[in-house]
Amino acid sequence: MSRWLLSYDSYDPAAEGVREALCTLGNGYFATRGAAPESVADGVHYPGTYVAGVYNRLTSQVAGRSVDNEDLVNTPDWTALTFRIGPEGPWFDLDAAHRAGHLLSYRQELDMRRGVLTRIVRLTDPAGRCTQITQRRLVSMDQPHLAAMETAVLPENWSGPLQVRCRLDGRVRNTGVARYRGLSNRHLEVDEICEHGDVLCLRTTTVTSRIGVATAVRVRSAAETGRRLLREPQAATWELSLDAVQGTPVTVEKVAAIATSRDHAIEECAIAARRWAERAGSFDELLERHVLAWDRLWRRCQIRVDHDDTQRILNLHMFHLLQTVSEHSVDLDVGVPARGLHGEAYRGHVFWDELFILPFLAMRFPEIARALLMYRWRRLPEARWAARRAGLRGACYPWQSGSDGTEQTQRLHLNPRSGRWLPDHTHLQRHVGLAIAYNVWRFHEATGDTEFLAEYGAEMLLEIARYFADLAVYNRVEDRYEIRGVMGPDEYHDAYPDRDEPGLDNNAYTNVMTAWVLRRALEVLALLPPEREAELREDLMLTRGELEHFEEVARKLKVPFHDGVISQFEGYGELEELDWEGYRARYGDIRRLDRILEAEGDTVNRYKASKQPDVLMLCYLLSPGELGSVLTGLGVDSGPDLIPRTIRYYLPRTCDGSSLSAVVHAWILARTGDADSWRFFQEALHSDIADIQGGTTAEGIHLGAMAGTVDLVQRCYAGISTCGDTLCIDPRPPKEITALRLGLRYRGHWGIDLACDHERLRVRVRPSAASPIRVAHAGRSAVIDPGGCWEVPL
Ligand code: BGC
Repeated sequence: MSRWLLSYDSYDPAAEGVREALCTLGNGYFATRGAAPESVADGVHYPGTYVAGVYNRLTSQVAGRSVDNEDLVNTPDWTALTFRIGPEGPWFDLDAAHRAGHLLSYRQELDMRRGVLTRIVRLTDPAGRCTQITQRRLVSMDQPHLAAMETAVLPENWSGPLQVRCRLDGRVRNTGVARYRGLSNRHLEVDEICEHGDVLCLRTTTVTSRIGVATAVRVRSAAETGRRLLREPQAATWELSLDAVQGTPVTVEKVAAIATSRDHAIEECAIAARRWAERAGSFDELLERHVLAWDRLWRRCQIRVDHDDTQRILNLHMFHLLQTVSEHSVDLDVGVPARGLHGEAYRGHVFWDELFILPFLAMRFPEIARALLMYRWRRLPEARWAARRAGLRGACYPWQSGSDGTEQTQRLHLNPRSGRWLPDHTHLQRHVGLAIAYNVWRFHEATGDTEFLAEYGAEMLLEIARYFADLAVYNRVEDRYEIRGVMGPDEYHDAYPDRDEPGLDNNAYTNVMTAWVLRRALEVLALLPPEREAELREDLMLTRGELEHFEEVARKLKVPFHDGVISQFEGYGELEELDWEGYRARYGDIRRLDRILEAEGDTVNRYKASKQPDVLMLCYLLSPGELGSVLTGLGVDSGPDLIPRTIRYYLPRTCDGSSLSAVVHAWILARTGDADSWRFFQEALHSDIADIQGGTTAEGIHLGAMAGTVDLVQRCYAGISTCGDTLCIDPRPPKEITALRLGLRYRGHWGIDLACDHERLRVRVRPSAASPIRVAHAGRSAVIDPGGCWEVPL
């Protein structure tokens, strides 16, 4: 099987949603699901096109309450196309043909190297006429506003008239997620539909955010004998008449252009979309430049392992990451939606998942990583306001972020198992701010981008540190600082079983990461040019006293313990053990243990059972040295055994309800030399391609886990870490991988090539005008000049 292909050899209605998500094409500006062009949203198919940053808010009535949600908007469908033989035949409908046994063959193929989705369908009809349809589709990586689809109809044993309908459909709604279907879903108003030559243009406006979204399609065919325009209230269709001759394919090209009122350098979005559609080249011309653009991207994404299936899925994961954020999203002021631009789950919101995504980008496309951090910086005023409203200083970032950086976490969520709408407290995951500060620091380490740090990064880091220092409350009796009423990354615990108000005290992850961030905040000022340091101190009114307070909190935050391990939060030790075997026997898949228990009238809050790593996230984010030092700084006697013991404790008490879980477990186990790492790595790799989470992939890919698997190869198996101005390399490839190669960008170098097997490590710095780099492995270090190479035994 090729390392660049994702292919399906038959039509399977039950798997269609997952395929649509996995065959989504995008370019960072917009993405279109790989839905069959002749389909409409009907429970099997879900055509969807999402433009980065186009959100809209609607109010819905749920369980007697009025709730507000901001969603990434499903914009008009540019792909719709069907055909019929002769003027009277039935319009081609995939499902009808499938049910009637008329599909002779069906193949769908995603070529990741070239970014092309191809579908080849052979079918017959009651009159015995056999037809082959070959459709190729792209969303241009070269021209971010353009997409194109070519349909070739080959009459195998007949000749005669053929009609093709190409619709531009503005009747779209956000109905892609069953759980949200009770909510309001009409985000667009259609302003106008007009025709200009062979171009149709549909202009819409989002109903509350008032963003103009224009979609234009141009339809052409050399075999056209006539066309007419069919108008509907919110859609318009070109109906082309063609003459088809047996054995000769008839080709129709549909080129789409999308513009929004958020775009730069346009007068008005409908004018722009129409103009771009008119000017666009033919499908083949667009394809040529599109493939060149992908070639360039792949040259920058070199990660090679000698394990074919793994390589193929890593390619798929990089492919979807680059389709979600790319050079075309850099100027859009967008964050990275947890489910890509691939579906409507989580409403296109931005969570902490960039923690898993940024490291890969920082060492390949630092400008994209920087843009994602800028999305956060622009929302600093809103984060400051959120802190102020809570009576605190600094910046409190929202758990779920959309257009303006206000908290977008839903207040009620549906448990599909019990049918009950329940309060959602996940906004108490204050740790999202710590992830942002962590990303700022790591970005600087990887890129050496001091300008970013000076202009934006340090300000965010200091404001986040300030918020957490304020959030920490001094406990005089214990002489410790405490952070109360929050949630850690494990979303299954949101409250104490016997307490009315939600939130937990002294979540170890939050407290330890707060200590780490406070220490970085103390260091960051020294990294700035003195003039900027003075400006920032003045601007933020940062006094010596406050910095001393940072230092004190970083020393005295409480880290709870029970049974000789770090407690996930204060009181975790008193929770009950779950009957894991019993639940597994009864339910099989218990990933969504929270829903199972709630439906039973119980609550997961009573048990030592986590959705995903929480304490163990510390071992994922911090090197053993860093973790040891922050724990020692907190006065915790970690001893050599504490971390392995803590890992052994939590692993069996975690049910992997999040796709991020397996990435973290694979990582931690690799670092402790446990062969089980490979099993978790494989699970993370297959989580979307095999839809392991039981149907959630159809609602959008899990981008954090996708990027996390690639990053795992780079930073964990190849063992790359950035420590100050040194590139540390400590490879630990699993036995299943015998050769691993990476190409990286690092601190002004566009080409650092790293190769390792189980015996040797080789680092080559390609010739350039950049400064030499310092590398280190197992206590040895070297400075490599551009053009130089360093080889060490492992
Ligand atoms: C996980 C979060 C994650 C979110 C978005 C949830 O299921 O628990 O950690 O940020 O999904 O991917």
